[in-house]
This record gives sequence, structure tokens and C-alpha cells, in this order.
Amino acid sequence: MPFTVAIDGPAASGKGTIARAIARHFGFHHLDTGLLYRATGVLGGDPVEAARALTPADIERDDLRSAHAGQAASRVAAIPEVRAALVDFQRRFALQEPGAVLDGRDIGTVICPGAALKLYVVASDEVRAARRAAELGADPALMLDELRERDARDMARATAPLRPAEDAVLLDTSELSIDEAIARAIAEVARVRSG
Ligand code: DC
Repeated sequence: MPFTVAIDGPAASGKGTIARAIARHFGFHHLDTGLLYRATGVLGGDPVEAARALTPADIERDDLRSAHAGQAASRVAAIPEVRAALVDFQRRFALQEPGAVLDGRDIGTVICPGAALKLYVVASDEVRAARRAAELGADPALMLDELRERDARDMARATAPLRPAEDAVLLDTSELSIDEAIARAIAEVARVRSG
């Protein structure tokens, strides 16, 4: 049985960094599922058609990290047919040997409810805005508004809203360095694997 790690949380909580580090440490595959929604959002045209026709090359585009792509992603992600079109790809990815780490908003609740470990990564709004501003070279106050708007939409939507799975382990990275957050996450994986 492949080992699946599901990581969810709001924007800029640190989940992507943690997911990449777990994958590197354990030799697992990693999928940043936000890229699927970002690519669907920036491709334009009918988002349902775009999601159905998405190719691996689309998620390699270099314009997917912008705040604009994040907002476009959050809007198309509220469309149930878009989400449905992306389910199979994510589930197939999750079943690769020896294991896979997927990060997003609904991995523990919808995509991989049977994951061996579910992490729900959070951080205060201000810390997340400061991190994203540093990453994109943007104004922290603007980033704070952008993140809050996006989180509110991601949590309020009817289909697969952002929320922790009941059995998710909560990891608050507000007061942690990157290395500390990664060490805690790796310790959780090691605990579950040895159990
Ligand atoms: O993780 P991210 O910031 O790249 O995600 C961009 C948007 O995509 C996010 O605001 C909501 C949506 N998303 C989602 O609905 N479900 C996922 N599994 C991943 C992302």
C-alpha cells in the first residue's frame, strides 16, 4: 500500500514548503494541487472545459504563482464541475509507490479521506501576509486583503470547502521557523509510519 500524506490549510500557511520537505525526506512524490486550479483559472475560456482538458504541461507554466492567478484559481475552484474534473488525476497521483504528498484545501476531506496522515497547517493572517509579501515582493497590507478574501471564498463555498478533516493533526506555524515546522511534520510522518 502506498503511503499518502494529505496536507491542507489556508493560503501561505507553509503547507507547500512542508509538503515538499516531507516528499524529499521520504522519497515520496509531491503534488501542489493549487497549481491545477491556478492553471484552470489562467487558461481562460470555459473553466469546466479548461479543467477537463488540463495537461501536465499546463501546471508547469511560470505565471501560476502570481496573486492574480491565486484569485482566478479560488474563483474557478468554487465550480463543482471544475473540482469533479480534477478528482481522478489527484487520486491516481496519490496512489503512487512508495508514497505521495498532496497539498491543497480538500485533500484530507474529499480527495484522500483514507490518507495515512492528514496535516492541517495554519498560521495567523498577519504572518501569512508577511510571508507571501516577501515571496512576491508585494505590499503586506495588500497581501493581507488578498489572502482574507481568498480564504473567505475557499471556506464558504458549498463544494469541498476548506476545513480540517476530523482526524487531521493541526500544525500552527505562526511562531515556528521553516526548519522547526518541517521537523514537526517529518516527526508526524515518522510516528505514523512506525506505528
Ligand atoms: O494553494 P494555492 O494558493 O495555490 O491555491 C489556489 C486556490 O486554488 C485556492 O485559493 C483555492 C483553490 N484550491 C482548492 O480549492 N482546492 C485545492 N485542493 C487546492 C487549491
